Amino acid sequence: MTIPPDRHRFFGPDFVWGVATSAFQIEGAAQADGKGPSIWDRFCAEPGRIADASNGDVACDHVQRWREDLDLIAALGVDAYRFSVSWPRVQPSGQGAWNAAGLDFYERLVDGLLSRGVKPYLTLNHWDLPDALQQQGGWANRETVHRFVEYALAMNRRLGDRVASITTHNEPWVIAHLGHETGVFAPGIRDRAVAAQVSHHLLLSHGLALQALRADGCAARLGIVLNLSPVYPATDTDADVAAARREDGLLRRWYMDPLFHARYPDDVLAHLGADAPKVQPGDLNAIAQRMDFLGINYYSRLVARAGEPWDVASSGRERTDMGWEIYPEGLTDLLVQLDHDYAVPPLYVTENGGAFRDEAVDGRVHDPARTDYIARHIDAVGEAIRQGVRMEGYMVWSLLDNFEWASGYAKRFGIVHVDYATQLRTPKTSYAWYRDFLARRRQAV
Ligand code: NOJ
Repeated sequence: MTIPPDRHRFFGPDFVWGVATSAFQIEGAAQADGKGPSIWDRFCAEPGRIADASNGDVACDHVQRWREDLDLIAALGVDAYRFSVSWPRVQPSGQGAWNAAGLDFYERLVDGLLSRGVKPYLTLNHWDLPDALQQQGGWANRETVHRFVEYALAMNRRLGDRVASITTHNEPWVIAHLGHETGVFAPGIRDRAVAAQVSHHLLLSHGLALQALRADGCAARLGIVLNLSPVYPATDTDADVAAARREDGLLRRWYMDPLFHARYPDDVLAHLGADAPKVQPGDLNAIAQRMDFLGINYYSRLVARAGEPWDVASSGRERTDMGWEIYPEGLTDLLVQLDHDYAVPPLYVTENGGAFRDEAVDGRVHDPARTDYIARHIDAVGEAIRQGVRMEGYMVWSLLDNFEWASGYAKRFGIVHVDYATQLRTPKTSYAWYRDFLARRRQAV
């Protein structure tokens, strides 16, 4: 990929530039104002689950400091802010009674964004399922699908007239696979058949929620966010090519085929064998609803080798602090490939960014590696547009350093540094770069 000399020129005037966070990773106030526990609250309390034994009790204290955070977003000059609603904050048990304090919080947040000229992009499920639902089987229980649809409708009635978009699920593969097969994420289950059933229920709840939201007259644009990576075979031997195809099936086609073709891929069904999910008549047509956009979270590529688990860091190239290879070309390849293989709606990169070891020197955080990472990935999106892909937006992960799930607080993805002892926010030089990039762009269009 050649880096365009003027990285603005491929992006039209309506292209949406944004920044993203999620509820559990920043909010804190885990037991305040009537919020119920989520599966991540419970998971963090189990010894050995989180690298630094931390939890989301305080996180970035965003529930208290949301005004300051919205000011940082506004000063950045982005068009959009992608955030998630904590389901147990608005409905503590995931069914029945609603929590007025929780609903009011998101109402203030959305109004605060609008008054600052920033479009709210709402995600319903960024992993923090109400723990009360987990006690009834969680996503493995088909009933949870219906509870999710009720939650989606309630949020639409409260906020649907003001948010620009609603995403059903963030990264269903992570919930199914990491949460229920390897068990490294909440709820910590290790059972491949359960994971497959969970993936089906997530997809079904997405489709049924879209149907219900549209029937309810929802004005927001509707979609889902998938974590996708192109999978390259390590060599061109038949065995490595087959391994790459299998990984691509599990990660990408397992989700894209039902969403866009109303079927699960035969090769993955055969691979799962008796662990394949139970699918009821009508489910697949319910899943394949028309979407207004598809969000993609991109961090790295995968390299597949026969007989080995996939590897995100096999090439000896530079890596981020997560150990993930920096491979911007993979984003262009992925977007072009999706556009070729499916009749996709406009695409967003809903997350992209890097964890790096930042150091604060004299109150400044100079993070050239992150700036370089973001700039090169923006160029990779521009290259996909040049090749004809319909792209609608790009969002940096993340506004703030935050709780990086099983890695705890040690991994920092923010363009704003957070001192967890004082909650002081310090914009890094990557924040200044993105702000200046957006300002120059506004002058250009
Ligand atoms: C994707 C997830 O949506 C987000 O929550 C996480 O922090 C980033 N990846 C980085 O791992």
